[in-house]
Amino acid sequence: MENFPLDIRKPLHIFDESYFSNIVNDLYEKGFSIRALGVPSFIVDALVRCQDSLSKQAYQRAGIGRAEQFQHHEKVRSDEICWIDGTSEEGQLWLDWCEALRLYINRHLFMGLFSFESHFACYEPGNFYKRHLDAFQGQSNRKLSVVTYLNDKWQPSDGGELVLYSRKNDLEGIQVLPEKGTIAIFLSEVFPHEVLKANRERHSVAGWFRLNTSVNDNIDPP
Ligand code: OGA
Ligand code: MN
Repeated sequence: MENFPLDIRKPLHIFDESYFSNIVNDLYEKGFSIRALGVPSFIVDALVRCQDSLSKQAYQRAGIGRAEQFQHHEKVRSDEICWIDGTSEEGQLWLDWCEALRLYINRHLFMGLFSFESHFACYEPGNFYKRHLDAFQGQSNRKLSVVTYLNDKWQPSDGGELVLYSRKNDLEGIQVLPEKGTIAIFLSEVFPHEVLKANRERHSVAGWFRLNTSVNDNIDPP
């Protein structure tokens, strides 16, 4: 038998799969999962350290749409973002955890998730993100949205709740406090959502699992 050069493979962390099975059960039943302490604390702590080390200049004003359609639109969203590219060990740990989650979801729900992208987001007091979908049916390859939060002792009076609506006509929705360690995962094309005006600096990490929709020379995701 041939010897495969094992050292070219990235060492994969072994993660506690009970976090993943909770998420998969929720997704199977409802299409979304919202869980307090839904991300292992050592991952959340790494994200907090990574976020702390970012300078103000590392953040850019968030836009809407992709590539040539990209535009700033302060009436819709006013947060600032910083993409996670895996150059820091802490950022890489988060990407590794999401990669393990991606494989777990594919194994159990056959979703065919292909890739993942993620950024930090900072909402200064007064910032918000109006009701939106992360993907429109058939127009995008974003399939599953993930958000986790990095804020200690978030109070209802701090505002900044994520509101997840179950369908187009749902006006009430489910409110989620952006408390450290809470995770929200939902089908990108199905659940409209918004971020209410924050009264205090609010840190989150958002990410999207995507399908591979590359056709011929058009590499997508880029
Ligand atoms: C987004 C988003 C929600 C949040 O970035 O698309 O909806 O709670 N974020 O930060
Ligand atoms: Mn969104």
